Amino acid sequence: MKKKILLGLGVIAVLVVVSVAWILPGAFSAKRKPPAWEISMARFARYLATPRQWREAENPVEATPEALDEALHHFADHCATCHANDGSGHTQMGPKFYPPILDLRAEPVQAMSDGELFYVIHFGIRFTGMPAWGDGDPEKDLESWQLVHFIRHLPDLTSEEIARMKRLNPMTTEARAEQEALDRFLAGEDFEPSLKHGH
Ligand code: HEC
Repeated sequence: MKKKILLGLGVIAVLVVVSVAWILPGAFSAKRKPPAWEISMARFARYLATPRQWREAENPVEATPEALDEALHHFADHCATCHANDGSGHTQMGPKFYPPILDLRAEPVQAMSDGELFYVIHFGIRFTGMPAWGDGDPEKDLESWQLVHFIRHLPDLTSEEIARMKRLNPMTTEARAEQEALDRFLAGEDFEPSLKHGH
């Protein structure tokens, strides 16, 4: 009996999904830009869905220069592909997400508590493309807390820091080899970079 009810509910659920998708063409397209009401509703729902103990959690990591430096490495390697080194979200993919990636330096993000930022990094944001980075390793948790400090630092990022990050961004093997060749060349080593071949 119970099985039949469940099956019935399942069929209804599928019909609802199919008809919504059919009635609202483009309902699942990421191409449109979300209207302002949807953004505020989603942000409010996210706020409510963040357990209070996380919202109020204090950053256990001290914002030392070393911690910020590690976070810079980490951000350049894991986050910048989508968020850009400066946190602006101006990457190839950034504006193509639904919703488009927000500037991490902007008010709505900076107004979040440390705990809320940690929660986002640790648990991700469903339906957006923001991955959940937490994997139960307490060491990694501390790295995420370091990243929270780094997000606070983003508005004051210097051009030297951005230049360092560019070298830490994920690269293809070819691009890395080219970069290393160029470095050796610039360091004055007796080495001709492959870039210059053919002259
Ligand atoms: C695959 C792309 C991708 C990667 C990689 C990624 N993010 Fe995100 N991130 C997103 C998307 C998409 C959102 C959602 C934007 C929104 O909801 O406004 C987001 C949202 C966020 C937010 C919340 C901003 C807001 O709108 O409230 C924070 C904070 C954040 N990411 C930090 C990070 C950090 C730190 C890393 C690296 C450990 C990272 N992200 C890696 C795609 C990514």
